[in-house]
Amino acid sequence: MSSSQITFFHDIRNLGINHNHWYAVARSVEVKCQPFSITLWHQSIVLYRDSEGKVHALEDLCPHRFVKLSSGRAIADELECAYHGWRFKSSGKCSYVPYLASNQKLPSCQIRTFPVQELNGFIWLFPGDKSKINLVSPLEIPEWEHLNYIATISVIKCRAHYSYLVENLMDMYHGHLHQNWQAWAAAKLIDLSENDDRVDAYYQAQSYYKIDKIWSISQLLFPSLRQLHPEPLNVSYIYPNWVSNLGKDFKIYCLLLPINEKQTQAYLIHFTSLHAFWRLHKLPEWFRRFVKNSLFGSAQKLLDGLVQQDVEMIEEEQQAYLKNPQQRSYELNKALVSTQRLIKKQALQ
Ligand code: FES
Ligand SMILES: [Fe+2]
Repeated sequence: MSSSQITFFHDIRNLGINHNHWYAVARSVEVKCQPFSITLWHQSIVLYRDSEGKVHALEDLCPHRFVKLSSGRAIADELECAYHGWRFKSSGKCSYVPYLASNQKLPSCQIRTFPVQELNGFIWLFPGDKSKINLVSPLEIPEWEHLNYIATISVIKCRAHYSYLVENLMDMYHGHLHQNWQAWAAAKLIDLSENDDRVDAYYQAQSYYKIDKIWSISQLLFPSLRQLHPEPLNVSYIYPNWVSNLGKDFKIYCLLLPINEKQTQAYLIHFTSLHAFWRLHKLPEWFRRFVKNSLFGSAQKLLDGLVQQDVEMIEEEQQAYLKNPQQRSYELNKALVSTQRLIKKQALQ
């Protein structure tokens, strides 16, 4: 092995997460008044919306017989367990037992609750030490509301440790895999920086898309309209999430929801910028919002196609690791060493 090659140590594939961050656990539209169940690093959590639209998060476990509260329903702003009908307030206190005798008191149980906030189309949950909640904020996604950006969301579900997904996202040399989708080409790492919370990798690449004419958006649908041209391709692992931009026209976020050592979910959000269309910006706001909403999901086929290819590779990596955890791999991309270092640093905090 030459000195420019880097050896990976695979103990990272069993590392946990740093709980003292905000995690995007659901899309806002997914959480209605009925219970919605999610898992964040082995922790089952039930989300529901009260009659005022406020979202609450509780441990998804009835303190009576330890069944899932998410199998029940929300009634009068409280959660009712499916089994014996006990009800719980959003504070986690038991409020009602249907068969409570007149000489019995309500059980004094307290279900664990989690701080949640709704921001930029997602429900953000803080699973950590509540005394540290003010040290961090949810990832900013200014494009979500901005009228100049068209969003598309793809949900990633992969049977692999989250480190494989983050490494895939930080390693722009894997454009090779997506040749048929023509996402980007000829990436070259130019610069790299890292600190305790983030890794920024700056690549130079070739982009197939240029959004500068009103019909440019059709490049997403018709490959013959695309032309290669150089663009900066920057990717950042801003723990626990990922952000990237390809030139000025595209911005992509990946909001990670690690489930356990062998399962990861994530929301990939792709924004296409309409910045170049200055005529559009002069139109009334309601019309621009109409355009933004009508074009939501216009890159769906592309995004889902890329995700499918990535997931296939990531799951193969996980399987190979499980077969032979001691096997060492060879790496040439320094951005991945920084990425692993950040994962370790954060997980061991
Ligand atoms: S198990 Fe939930 S009410 Fe009995
Ligand atoms: Fe990819």
